[in-house]
Amino acid sequence: MPARTAMLLRLAATACLAATALAAAEPDNLAVCASCHGEDGSGAGYENVPIIAGTPTAHLEQAMQAYKSGARRCVEETLMCDIVAELDNAEIRAFAEHYGAMQRRPSGEDFDLVLALNGGQLHEAHCAQCHVFPEDENVEAARGIPLHAQRSHYLRLAFDAYRDGHRDTLLPEMAEKLALLDAADIEALIHYYVSYRR
Ligand code: HEC
Ligand code: HEC
Repeated sequence: MPARTAMLLRLAATACLAATALAAAEPDNLAVCASCHGEDGSGAGYENVPIIAGTPTAHLEQAMQAYKSGARRCVEETLMCDIVAELDNAEIRAFAEHYGAMQRRPSGEDFDLVLALNGGQLHEAHCAQCHVFPEDENVEAARGIPLHAQRSHYLRLAFDAYRDGHRDTLLPEMAEKLALLDAADIEALIHYYVSYRR
């Protein structure tokens, strides 16, 4: 067999393997996640459930690992933590890839314009270095998970969890920034994030 043909065959075989691996990455127990997060990852109808559709895979994976390690403790819905505790790293990765590849689903909630404008300034000053826009080309590598267009109730729950010690901030710089905020600042930030429609 000419060397070139052999090489092409090898390439084709690798491509088939890659395609199989991709198909196999579709996680088995998606229906479990979908019962709260929805098949579209929007969590529609459940206020305390975060929107996870289209959040970069690396960030979803990091969040799930934080529940698994206990760095994040579930407050309103303990089943989420119980489920993730049973998953191995490959399963966590597969779920993260599945939801990460989905189309984003902005919460689209009403917001107060003045609060949102104030929140935007706070975000730029304290948070934008890590929490970039969802469509930023560096979003996957950014240190923080995208916050724009997340559901308001979930954002409140997350802020409360850091404050009340139910979540460890994974980076000390993030803890320093949160310590600068009072309740009015947090409310303004939430209105700003909710105002985002992409
Ligand atoms: C019983 C409802 C429920 C089920 C089932 C569930 N979740 Fe969750 N999920 C939640 C809630 C509520 C939170 C927020 C928990 C908290 O931080 O207090 C959450 C948080 C998350 C987060 C963090 C998102 C972020 O913005 O930080 C990810 C990722 C996630 N879930 C993925 C999954 C996957 C994958 C499955 C299936 C293996 C799953 N969940 C099953 C309710 C659920
Ligand atoms: C040095 C980088 C950094 C800075 C600055 C930072 N954060 Fe974060 N933030 C992170 C990381 C990393 C995570 C995810 C890990 C975790 O759970 O702690 C996170 C998580 C969050 C979450 C939880 C999101 C979710 O989906 O569960 C909220 C809310 C948040 N940050 C708000 C803020 C706000 C508001 C500011 C500015 C006042 C800020 N952060 C500044 C790095 C940062």
